[in-house]
Amino acid sequence: MQSVRINELSSHAGATVTVRGWVTHLRSSGKVAFIVMRDGTGILQTVLVKNAVAPETWEHFAKLTQETSLSVTGEVRPDARAPGGFELGIADLSIIGESPLDYPIQPKEHGIDFLLDNRTFWLRSPRQVAIARIRSELEQATHDFFYQRGFLRVDTPILTAAIGERSGLFSTEYFEEGNAYLAQTGQLYGEAAAAAFGKIYTFGPTFRAEKSKTRRHLTEFWMIEPEVAFNDTHDNMKLQEDYLTFMVERVLERRQAELKECERDITKLETVKPPFPRIDYSDAVATLQKKGSKVVWGDDLGAEDEALLVEDYDRPIFVMNYPKEAKAFYMKENPDDPRTVLCDDCLAPEGYGEIIGGSQREDDYDKILHRLREEKLPEEAYSWYLDLRKYGTFPHSGFGLGLERTVAWIVGAQHIRECIAFPRMMHRLRP
Ligand code: 4AD
Ligand code: MG
Repeated sequence: MQSVRINELSSHAGATVTVRGWVTHLRSSGKVAFIVMRDGTGILQTVLVKNAVAPETWEHFAKLTQETSLSVTGEVRPDARAPGGFELGIADLSIIGESPLDYPIQPKEHGIDFLLDNRTFWLRSPRQVAIARIRSELEQATHDFFYQRGFLRVDTPILTAAIGERSGLFSTEYFEEGNAYLAQTGQLYGEAAAAAFGKIYTFGPTFRAEKSKTRRHLTEFWMIEPEVAFNDTHDNMKLQEDYLTFMVERVLERRQAELKECERDITKLETVKPPFPRIDYSDAVATLQKKGSKVVWGDDLGAEDEALLVEDYDRPIFVMNYPKEAKAFYMKENPDDPRTVLCDDCLAPEGYGEIIGGSQREDDYDKILHRLREEKLPEEAYSWYLDLRKYGTFPHSGFGLGLERTVAWIVGAQHIRECIAFPRMMHRLRP
């Protein structure tokens, strides 16, 4: 007998097939029983009629519980009222694995800590499946977008010597080499790769030992980091805008059912079209002060300021050219205002805030060396990075998009912990 997945049933209408999955709901009148099951690709209602099947088959029904795994065989019948538009009339049923009645996730409200402790099971619920599918769609869209544009994907190391962003490092012993640190970014290697291959992107896990317990911080998150030789800061923002638009369009095109499961107001995504507003940092600070924020020129913008700023817009915005001291050492000095650097944060609407950080990189050897020293960073660890400015230096820029924050915005999740299968946060290492 042919086994099919629930989302493939429409091409088997009228045929007899086998479907395997897990029980989600059970209902019986004594003569007719309904088993609703899921297999990760969809939900299927199956019907068992006492008179129409062998007595042993009917008796199996009494042993079913929520999450019992089973195999059912029967005819695929169109039914407009059924989820997915098809129902399966059971001719044969067998139990694959029983599930005791104390299955942790019950059809009632559970607290978030309980759900996170039981993440292995929570993942099976319809909303979590929908979020995971949208995340996967965004990953695929990322590869499609950069492949279509001739970018080379480069996998950068996760074990590194001490280099990266400013926030905390996770370290581990590394043979006779002393400590190795888990990568906070692939960017610096991305820059070397851009000089070798022209246009590249990295897509990997990044790690930050930040003691932040906010709804947008994980200690392990996934970042997509393109780096392009000879792109300036304006080219860089154009690329971000095109990439984000591509991703939103892709999800609207292919993941309507999942957006609906997440109860997402899609009119808020349909307005995501270029151009995205570009706001100078100094103007942003002035606007924020008018709105009552205590921010002063020189500060990085916090989550609250970002939310205040985006409330006037229906699409992501760029805040450009932050003060040098608010940003990383590698950003290029702004020739029009050397107190600032050629960078941008891309802020998502509806209060989501920063989802991308990008910049043109400092390509002047002496200036970047000066910035390294100002930041008291270990020069030896950066020698190969400095050499990129010595042998054929080149203007270049790139950015990092945080995948979980982007998923959270697109699905409308309150917290990014739902946007990765097994979140890692300050107080969570299990499961
Ligand atoms: O702004 P960040 O720190 O930039 C970089 O790491 C650069 N090296 C990127 C580059 O230019 N290649 O981080 C980039 C993005 C943020 O905008 C945010 O979306 C995400 O990474 N991010 C986090 N996501 C979840 N948890 C955290 N702790 C995050 N820290 C940053
Ligand atoms: Mg940033």
